[in-house]
Amino acid sequence: MITNINAVSVDDEKINLLLIDSMGKQLGMNINSFLDPKAAVEFIETNEVDLIFVDYMMPGIDGVEFIKKARVIHPDIPIIMITAVMTDDELKLRAFEAGATEFLNKPLNSAEFVARVTNLADLRKSQLLLKDRAMLLEDEVLKATEKIVQREHETLNVLGKAAEYKDPETAAHIARVAYYSKLLAEALGKDKKKQQLILYAAPLHDIGKIGIPDSILLKPGKLTAEEFEIVKTHPAIGVEIIGDAMSGYLTAGAVVAKYHHERFNGKGYPAGLSGDEIHIFGRIVAVADVFDALTSKRPYKGPWTFEKSLDLLVAEKGKHFDPQIVDHFVSLRDEVVRIFNTYSDDI
Ligand SMILES: [Fe+2]
Ligand SMILES: [Fe+2]
Repeated sequence: MITNINAVSVDDEKINLLLIDSMGKQLGMNINSFLDPKAAVEFIETNEVDLIFVDYMMPGIDGVEFIKKARVIHPDIPIIMITAVMTDDELKLRAFEAGATEFLNKPLNSAEFVARVTNLADLRKSQLLLKDRAMLLEDEVLKATEKIVQREHETLNVLGKAAEYKDPETAAHIARVAYYSKLLAEALGKDKKKQQLILYAAPLHDIGKIGIPDSILLKPGKLTAEEFEIVKTHPAIGVEIIGDAMSGYLTAGAVVAKYHHERFNGKGYPAGLSGDEIHIFGRIVAVADVFDALTSKRPYKGPWTFEKSLDLLVAEKGKHFDPQIVDHFVSLRDEVVRIFNTYSDDI
């Protein structure tokens, strides 16, 4: 018995339809019969269909045309063309080319009908089973991938926290720099993937400070020239720590670490690069990081107002910062305020 198979039968002669209907039903199939091929096309456009019987000689659309249309809608279901015994090979060839799976001769032979239709219905069932399995697998892969991404993000956050653990900078600073950077990436027309990348990479900008001795990193007073030379190695140390990683976030983190102290006019460190030579992620994080340091309370200074901090960014356009990025940042003031208030230091 063939159950759970929805078949469509198209023939302009009612007697043929009745015959297929009765033979199909004996096998346990559901049969939807159509005298009008156009109505049948409409039906298969909007319904799940597993198998089609189609006559060749029909008014309006002939069998070959019908198969062509059906194949566009259902690329893989079995289609059986019912032809007269005298049908020439050329027609059969055209029908095969259009996508027919099988031929049955008129008048229909019941034993042949049962054998061929059962085979095709089995084929259809295996197709459906495979499709189900593929969908199940796809679903599982998707879930597993989501978990991996979640864990990767978690690891990145832990790494970010480790980086700022002994640094006077706070977790809130890390979060704000990340969101300001994402905001700027979006304003600069970077796609969603790049925006995510910088969101998770920006917190790693100072990861290299792990390698700076506490006596220098936590020194309350002004650094000597020698001590500052040591601080200037933190971008390179950051690259050493995460530069070889396979994770795209970590490689982006290494880029941010490497370039975030370069200045647009070439007067930054460690390489003294200028303009476009500085990776865009570095230019973005430079603005976000400095702005956040200005508006934050630090052991050596109180928090600056938004006004004063933005003024400094503008004054440094083309010097410390990429002018285009500063312009975006200034015009996004409302969003910046929202991020500032969301990730305040008492979180
Ligand atoms: Fe830094
Ligand atoms: Fe920072």
